[in-house]
Formats: sequence, structure tokens, C-alpha cells
Amino acid sequence: MLRIGIILASVRDGRRGGQVAQWVAETAARRTDAEFALIDLLDHPLPHLETEKPALLTRGAYEDERTAAWAATIAPCDGYVIVTPEYNHSMPGSLKNAIDHLYVEWNDKAVGFVSYGVDGGVRSVAQLRQLCGVLQLADVAAQVSLTLAGDFEQSAFTPRASNANSLDLMLDHVVRWSGALASVRTAGRAESEIRARISGIVDGIGARDLDALRRVYAPDVVSFDVESPLQHVGVDAKLKNWAKVFTVFAATSYELRDLTVEVGGDIAFCHAFGRISGTLAATGEHADGMWVRATFCFRRIDGDWLIVHDQASMPVDVVSGRVATDLEP
Ligand SMILES: Cc1cc2nc3c(=O)[nH]c(=O)nc-3n(C[C@H](O)[C@H](O)[C@H](O)COP(=O)(O)O)c2cc1C
Repeated sequence: MLRIGIILASVRDGRRGGQVAQWVAETAARRTDAEFALIDLLDHPLPHLETEKPALLTRGAYEDERTAAWAATIAPCDGYVIVTPEYNHSMPGSLKNAIDHLYVEWNDKAVGFVSYGVDGGVRSVAQLRQLCGVLQLADVAAQVSLTLAGDFEQSAFTPRASNANSLDLMLDHVVRWSGALASVRTAGRAESEIRARISGIVDGIGARDLDALRRVYAPDVVSFDVESPLQHVGVDAKLKNWAKVFTVFAATSYELRDLTVEVGGDIAFCHAFGRISGTLAATGEHADGMWVRATFCFRRIDGDWLIVHDQASMPVDVVSGRVATDLEP
């Protein structure tokens, strides 16, 4: 079931926002196409942003436990409704600060807005929409704008019927886009996991760590490596090849260029140019190595992306049988 977070942005004493968010939550609770959770910024006191690295770079690894708790609230949601007032023609600082603490948690999700103020809080939402691009958040056009004169009697919230209709419409769009973006989020996560696995090969070769390399392959991997025989079946056969590389080179490094990753369901394929270089064990001289064409085929097995097939090759002149070892990507 899709999960939509309703974020209450105002943290002011005597705020009107509590009643507005309650109205949104009660309306949303009548729906059967998603579940909704009220997220009150008052429950997530954050410092003014003080971390050295922006969340764009930390990518979910937060040292500050208040930020980690905030991330753990936001990350599981598939989409959001932000309930925001307008202060001095702008969004509340509490909301901007809370948004800036995170990054990947917002990516590839949908968001809709309920705003309120003298003029409906529209300038606050206009600013929020500017942030959506960089946050990779898809903002739906349907919007609820509540005015102090039309939708409140003094401080009591009395929304007009037309705004109830606007709320239903906006929720429709947020739910629909949240569902549509689910496959983008899954593919994005899978690609990061696969890229991390391939980094595991690069690191494992640099560290000459056969155990680390073993973790990258499925037990029954079929490898069409550059060396004989035609195929190496099973992870032990594949690791024998890496062990051989470690006897040829006293120190090794593996460079990859132009890595592409394509994910479809539980299967993925990747290609890159790869080169192993290092110090030759026999002579102590440095060898630049040769660029090979590398293909990695992954399957998700019990939640882990593992290489089930790989291929490393160099172009060959079919008439002379000469292998081209001097080509550069
Ligand atoms: C500091 C401050 C600035 C405000 N500036 C605006 C404004 O620029 N435009 C507007 O429509 N309302 C403005 N208002 C009125 C708010 O819309 C109104 O007080 C609303 O109830 C604020 O939301 P809250 O009670 O949930 O905090 C401002 C209120 C405050 C406290």
C-alpha cells in the first residue's frame, strides 16, 4: 500500500496549521488507495542546518541522531502533502530547514500542497515548487489554497466546500504519481546497489582480497573470461582466474570506464571498459595492462544483486587471429 506523509510545517504556538492538517488527514483517511501519516515538524526538532556536508553528498548516512530520526520518518513515504502557511511572502523557516536536512529521501516521489494565509499562501507554495526540481520531487499542479477571510472564522477553521473538492483532486494526483514513480525508485535503488557491487570488484582487486571478490558472484556463475578455457563455471573457477592475476601482478589496480547499468525487474546488465594494471611479480616493472570489454549480468537472488554471467573480451582480427591489445576507450 502506498504511504503518503502529510507534513505539518508550522511549529508556532497557537498555529492554525494543526486544524488544517487534521482536516487533510481526516479527508485522506477515507481513501482506500493509500495510507496517510501525519508528520508534525514539532515532533522533529532539528538544529539550524549545521552539518559540513550537504545531504546531497551524505546520501542517507547521517551522524546526527535528530537528522537520522527525521530521515527515518520521511524515507518510507512514497509521496507527501505539505501543509504550509505563508510568512512574509515565503515558506516557514522550519519547513525549509527540515527539507534541507535530507536529500535522497525526497527523490523520485510526488508532492502536493495545502497552503493558507491572507492570500491563500500561494507565494509560499510558489517557492516550494522551485525546490522540487533540485529535490527530484514531482509536484502535482492541483493545489488547495485556503484564505484567512474565506476559510477561517477568527482562528476556527471552516473550509469552504470548493476547497474540499480541491483537496480530493490534489490527493488523487499525489496518489497516482506516487504509484507511477514507484518503479523509478526501485530501479534507482537497484542501480545504486549494482554500482556498489561493481565497486566491490574494483576494491577487491586493489586489496587482492579473494573473499571480497567471492561475495560479488553467484555460486553458479558462468564466466566467459579472456583466458582459456572457453568458460569458467562456478565461483571457485572464477576465483582461480583472479588468483592467477594476483600471481602475475605483485600489486594490482582495476580501472573501469564508461560503466552503464540497465535494470529490468530482478535482472540487470552492465558494460564497461576495464583494465588491470600493476607491478609485474616477475620483473618488478610497472605494466599498464590492456583495455578489455567487460559485460556483467546480474540477477537479484534473495535480495542480493550477484553476477550470474560475465564476459571479458578483446577485439580479434578474424583472418590473422591477432588480438588487438593496444586499443584505448
Ligand atoms: C511572521 C508572520 C508573517 C506572516 N506573513 C504573511 C504573509 O506574508 N502572507 C500571508 O498571507 N499571511 C502572512 N501571515 C499570516 C499567516 O498566514 C497566519 O498567521 C497563519 O495563521 C499562519 O499559520 P500558522 O498559524 O499555522 O503558523 C504571517 C504570519 C506571521 C506569524
